[in-house]
Amino acid sequence: MGQKTPYKLSNLPPPQEKIETIKILRKANSASLAIAELKGIAQTIPNQTMLINAVVLKEAKDSSEIENIITSTDELYEALTSKKTFSNPNVKEVVNYRRSIFLGFKIISEQGFLKVNDIIQLQQDLIDNNAGIRSTPGTVLKNDQTGEIVYTPPQDKSEIENLLTNFIKHYNDLESEISPLINLAILHYQFESIHPFYDGNGRTGRILNILYLILNNILDIPILYLSSYIIKNKSEYYKLLNNVNKKDEWENWILYVLEAIEQTSRQTINQIQQIRELLDKTILNVKEKAPKIYSKELVENIFEQPYTKIDHIVQKIGVERKAASRYLRKLNEIGILKSKKIGKEMIYINIELVELLKANH
Ligand SMILES: Nc1ncnc2c1ncn2[C@@H]1O[C@H](COP(=O)(O)OP(=O)(O)O)[C@@H](O)[C@H]1O
Ligand SMILES: [Mg+2]
Repeated sequence: MGQKTPYKLSNLPPPQEKIETIKILRKANSASLAIAELKGIAQTIPNQTMLINAVVLKEAKDSSEIENIITSTDELYEALTSKKTFSNPNVKEVVNYRRSIFLGFKIISEQGFLKVNDIIQLQQDLIDNNAGIRSTPGTVLKNDQTGEIVYTPPQDKSEIENLLTNFIKHYNDLESEISPLINLAILHYQFESIHPFYDGNGRTGRILNILYLILNNILDIPILYLSSYIIKNKSEYYKLLNNVNKKDEWENWILYVLEAIEQTSRQTINQIQQIRELLDKTILNVKEKAPKIYSKELVENIFEQPYTKIDHIVQKIGVERKAASRYLRKLNEIGILKSKKIGKEMIYINIELVELLKANH
């Protein structure tokens, strides 16, 4: 028995007693502590690009996976590194997703707020079409398994636009009385329920989450993502969104998002520590086994780009091709990189790092 008529979606904010229960406030506290710790640890990493690159690609992969767009870490790195055209069409979507996160980060950093048009641009880049906000009725959310209609978002374009205006006002409100992590949960629900686009709402909404954390200075760089948690708790994700639609049941939804923030913060802290240890170990290893080619830049480069090639090294380190080639061959010889021929190009893989990035789910 599907709900056919649209639910009347209210403007933000929800009633205070629904969103600031004791349980929520308590959980918001512990989630805040975890994310503050993550912010601090990220600041101690000298090479921020290294960190961002690693985490953003993983999120692009995971967030797409929630929408059944499946890729492997290896094929993504290959696509980013080699000139070869990818055989898996999903790869393009994930590569686009990664680009959209970077674009959003740039907009937020330069502008200090987000416009509805920026959201439209992010979604356009992601989906690779310019349909924009829905203007033809018919979009409904269905249960994957049963095909039953679980939610009908607003169908009327002007209603969607009004809801987005209200959404963006709250999104940019840095003076809100509501704690930003609680707000994040509310905003994510609201965006998904407005469901402004024909497609890409889930992914765009999850990009808005990270940008919101940066906007509120909770993080400096885009390194916290809830998708790995959502993948593990996917039916809850849908069920709880739906219970807000149907029963105005905010508490469990907000607790879910706060738990996701806390767990993924801890997981990312762990991952950063592991990357750091591996970086230190690799530096020592190169210093010992290949002192003649050692430079900090060289080692950091194979952490910024775990799949690399001569061109990258030439560009990033500013040495000649001959030297770049010698460095890569040497790193291959001492077992730090593993070479692989893709098409006509020789690609060098920082295998230990790639394994580490894969393992952290
Ligand atoms: N009952 C619901 N109410 C509101 N949003 C929902 C509900 N069920 C799922 N969603 C959201 O819709 C998203 C899927 O929308 P879609 O436009 O297909 O996004 P994408 O193309 O990124 O897959 C899910 O990831 C989820 O965030
Ligand atoms: Mg979709």
